[in-house]
Amino acid sequence: MSPKGHNRLRHVAIIMDGNGRWARQRGLPRIEGHRRGVENVRQIIQVAREIELEHLTLFAFSVENWQRPPDEIASLMDLLELFLKRNIKDLIKNEVRLNVIGRPEELPDRVQKPLHKALEQTAHFTERQLNVALNYGSRTEVLDAVRAYAEAVREGKEDPRNLDWPHFENYLYTRGVPDPDLLIRTSGESRISNFLLMQCAYSELFFSPVFWPEFGREHFLKAIESYQQRERRFGKTGEQVQHPTDHAIANS
Ligand code: FPP
Repeated sequence: MSPKGHNRLRHVAIIMDGNGRWARQRGLPRIEGHRRGVENVRQIIQVAREIELEHLTLFAFSVENWQRPPDEIASLMDLLELFLKRNIKDLIKNEVRLNVIGRPEELPDRVQKPLHKALEQTAHFTERQLNVALNYGSRTEVLDAVRAYAEAVREGKEDPRNLDWPHFENYLYTRGVPDPDLLIRTSGESRISNFLLMQCAYSELFFSPVFWPEFGREHFLKAIESYQQRERRFGKTGEQVQHPTDHAIANS
């Protein structure tokens, strides 16, 4: 099945929220919610492949998440390590390139090896990409980009007089990744929480009341259906946007 409808859909980004509340409602420890959340990640990756999405981006761990209790952080890292080890074969089989956005170098050592292995072993795939936001924060991303750009100016490699957005976005973690067409947040919260603030300038937003562990295939497809029915204008009038599927409009 391919995503047919009004708007072209290349990239969906998801804020996977509500694992803790899902667990609490059932009298389970929070980590059980995260465990179920990871299981759901597998399912959503599968749907993304079926609908021929080019990019799926998942917010797995934010720079703010370091403030959680140490045992919860350790469990999240265990789950990440396990996810990478268990899913590498599937990623390769399905020809999905893994990409990380954020500051992965600050993650614990035990995550580094499976992460680098998965990145290396999938680096040659070009059709589908899973972008996992790890130790990610949008403001940190902007600061890292400004720092790298300033360094390039200092070395004489860049001239600020030529700076425009298509040029600057090459300094973001998402270099080479098209902007999300659709941003989904689960669990009933209507916030963006420092996620892809620059990249979501023209994204359609979809807030679902469903907690992430229960956000299944049908919910995902419903969000996409809602997206297909929207009129994307990119700051222009409806009459001007004759081809809302044309991504060039977003950059004009
Ligand atoms: C939000 O639930 C979820 C997270 C902070 C972590 C999301 C991570 C995973 C699903 C696992 C790792 C991901 C991958 C790709 C392996 P919450 O704890 O904020 O829930 P609450 O708001 O109900 O407390």
